[in-house]
Amino acid sequence: LSSTAEEVGSGGTAVVGTPGTADLPWSELGFEYRDTKSHLRMVYRDGRWEEPTLVESPYMQVHIGATALHYGQACFEGLKAFSHADGDVYLFRPDENGMRINRSANRVMMPEIPVDMFVRACNDVVRDNIAYVPPYGSGGALYLRPLLFGSGPRIGLQPSEEYTFLIMVIPVGDYYKGGLAKPVNGLIIDEYDRAAPRGVGSAKVAGNYAADLIPNVQAKKMGYPICLYLDAATHTKVEEFSTSNFIGIDNTNKRYVTPSSPSVLPSVTNKSLQTIARDRGMTVEARDILVEELDTFDEVIACGTAVVVTPIGSLTRLNDPAKGVGGDSSTMYRFTEDVGVTTRALYDQVRSIQNGEIEDVHNWNFKV
Ligand code: COI
Repeated sequence: LSSTAEEVGSGGTAVVGTPGTADLPWSELGFEYRDTKSHLRMVYRDGRWEEPTLVESPYMQVHIGATALHYGQACFEGLKAFSHADGDVYLFRPDENGMRINRSANRVMMPEIPVDMFVRACNDVVRDNIAYVPPYGSGGALYLRPLLFGSGPRIGLQPSEEYTFLIMVIPVGDYYKGGLAKPVNGLIIDEYDRAAPRGVGSAKVAGNYAADLIPNVQAKKMGYPICLYLDAATHTKVEEFSTSNFIGIDNTNKRYVTPSSPSVLPSVTNKSLQTIARDRGMTVEARDILVEELDTFDEVIACGTAVVVTPIGSLTRLNDPAKGVGGDSSTMYRFTEDVGVTTRALYDQVRSIQNGEIEDVHNWNFKV
């Protein structure tokens, strides 16, 4: 890594400090922005990626004509680093995020980042911020937020000629208050769509998340912390939550059911949980899920890097078309009141791998 007056770090490989030594309330982190020591930044100019730098200031100068600002030419990732009992720190499946960011980049005509370069960048920024990695036993993780965007000016609708890639890091705890212990109630959204089948839905581009803001805020006001979207074309099939993928569990038949759709984000957590479920003798079905089928699930899970494995207590559809007009037109699908056995088992297994407490048989942990 190179460095300038604004930047810190050199050589790129030194571990600066010890995990958990920053002055933070480790067991009460939640999921909020916090300043850390540095972020990593790298610019694509004249057809090539320049050397990355570690930058201390959380501010940057951006051209007023940047395509990211005007036309949403931007995508991001989310992955985590965990402390193990021996004090070593590991990234969870960063190669998967490296591949996914390139898929997203391709969809909105941005340059790819070679996966080994992406993983090295993740490593370097974690090493420089090692004091901010929550200590083993705290339940937290260092969340990495890689961001790639068109930083060059264009006013006609065209891709930028310059791109900026950065990775910011934030120590985090639970995304939804109460974590695994407290099932979250969700609202099925009929008035809005998250993503069109041939749109940018399965890419992790910034605009997909903007589409959720109105329903998300409205639902929260009504007492539903999470929204569940249906397929935009027919509104008959389950797609994904505001923040995460959908999993339905049928305990009688040991089935793990998750939507297969061109507008659902390919979640690394879902992929990992599918492997764990198969290892546990469950059948994994990736297919269409009709809304009515929600009735058949014993447990429903929201899964993703940020939300990990979040139990869903109920899902409410306020204006259920099946009920017609007049009278109460809402339907509430209820799942296990407490945390379901399968939800807990999947959570325990993935978290134990991430924490280095059980053997990492699939080689998902990358040592920093
Ligand atoms: C993640 O889970 O990493 C995400 O990017 C989802 C975001 C809404 C927090």
